[in-house]
Amino acid sequence: MKTTFSIIKADVGGWPGHALVHPSLQEIANKRLLEAQRDKLLIDYHVTHCGDDLELIMTHANGVDSKEVHNLAWETFCEATEKARELGLYGAGQDLLCDAFSGNIKGMGPGIAEMEFTERKAEPIVAFMMDKTEPGAFNFPIFKIFADPFNTAGLIIDPSIHDGFVFEVWDILEHKNVMLNTPEQMYDLLALIGAKSRFVIKRVYPKKSSKLPADEPVSVISSEKLYQIAGEYVGKDDPAGVVRAQSGLPALGEVLEGFSKAHLVSGWMRGSHNGPLMPVSVNNATCTRFDGPPRVIALGFQLKNGKLTEPVDLFDDPAFDRIRQEALHITDYMRQHGPFEPHRLPMEDMEYTTLPNVMKKLGKKFKKID
Ligand code: 13P
Ligand code: 13P
Ligand code: MG
Ligand code: MG
Repeated sequence: MKTTFSIIKADVGGWPGHALVHPSLQEIANKRLLEAQRDKLLIDYHVTHCGDDLELIMTHANGVDSKEVHNLAWETFCEATEKARELGLYGAGQDLLCDAFSGNIKGMGPGIAEMEFTERKAEPIVAFMMDKTEPGAFNFPIFKIFADPFNTAGLIIDPSIHDGFVFEVWDILEHKNVMLNTPEQMYDLLALIGAKSRFVIKRVYPKKSSKLPADEPVSVISSEKLYQIAGEYVGKDDPAGVVRAQSGLPALGEVLEGFSKAHLVSGWMRGSHNGPLMPVSVNNATCTRFDGPPRVIALGFQLKNGKLTEPVDLFDDPAFDRIRQEALHITDYMRQHGPFEPHRLPMEDMEYTTLPNVMKKLGKKFKKID
């Protein structure tokens, strides 16, 4: 049997501002997904939040792009939006771009990370969820996990992953994708994904030489909103991603080690600033300081015939304290730049800007320079 693991997420209202998801929205999601489990649409589920993003983690046997599962997520977000409106939560329905569901939730605002695969005897799987950033924030850790031997010792010492992995990279601007093998094409891969607002890692696959099926992804990252409206800027899409671990894949600790840097990502205040990505526990996934700093949570499960164990809150651990301290230090440093780049994003990457108005106002006051 193949299992589908789907994370579908949306911001349907913040509490207060863009800080957090109100518990009553999670309640609605829990109720809806429990019903869907009783109706046998879902095998299992877990509802959580990262900052102001409501996250539906679901397992089922319907494959990716299932109309029923997408509809379930859509209706859940719609009901949660109604509640958000009733409570006067901030930006109620923010991520729901269309009024009517048309069979697939792609392009309608919510983010989707889902993959179908044959379960191994024991299947450790991690759901990563970020707030106040964009899908390209995953490029750095996913590269480290699956291609950097200084992060993942197994790439050198474990015969089952020594051959490396295949990366599927999307060009958001041109609407194209390309498959790149590591380690052979590592420099080409880095040349692309270093430009993280244009090229995003969408999926990672095992190589043909692996004992795992080469056509079943081992990692997937959400990117739908960006993809759908390529070429036209409509704002950051707080992303989610899934990574499978162990036995022919990086070990769980190698997966988490990918997040040991607090690397700079774009998003943060008004979706228009660079800042460090801070790994936190679910309880600390509240975006406060300057609406951030950007955060990532990690829930680890063992999967068996589609059933999930209770999640383990993997960044709820003192081993990540220093990384958080470093993130806070970088937060102070970046904030001191105020409205200056590279804290503020370059003009073309900002979610909104007053520059055209400023230029209009100053108009004729601009004098030609010889
Ligand atoms: P096990 O021998 O328990 O699988 O652990 C090996 C490992 O990968 C630890 O990182
Ligand atoms: P979200 O994308 O998380 O809603 O944040 C928007 C924002 O403007 C934060 O300052
Ligand atoms: Mg919001
Ligand atoms: Mg958000």
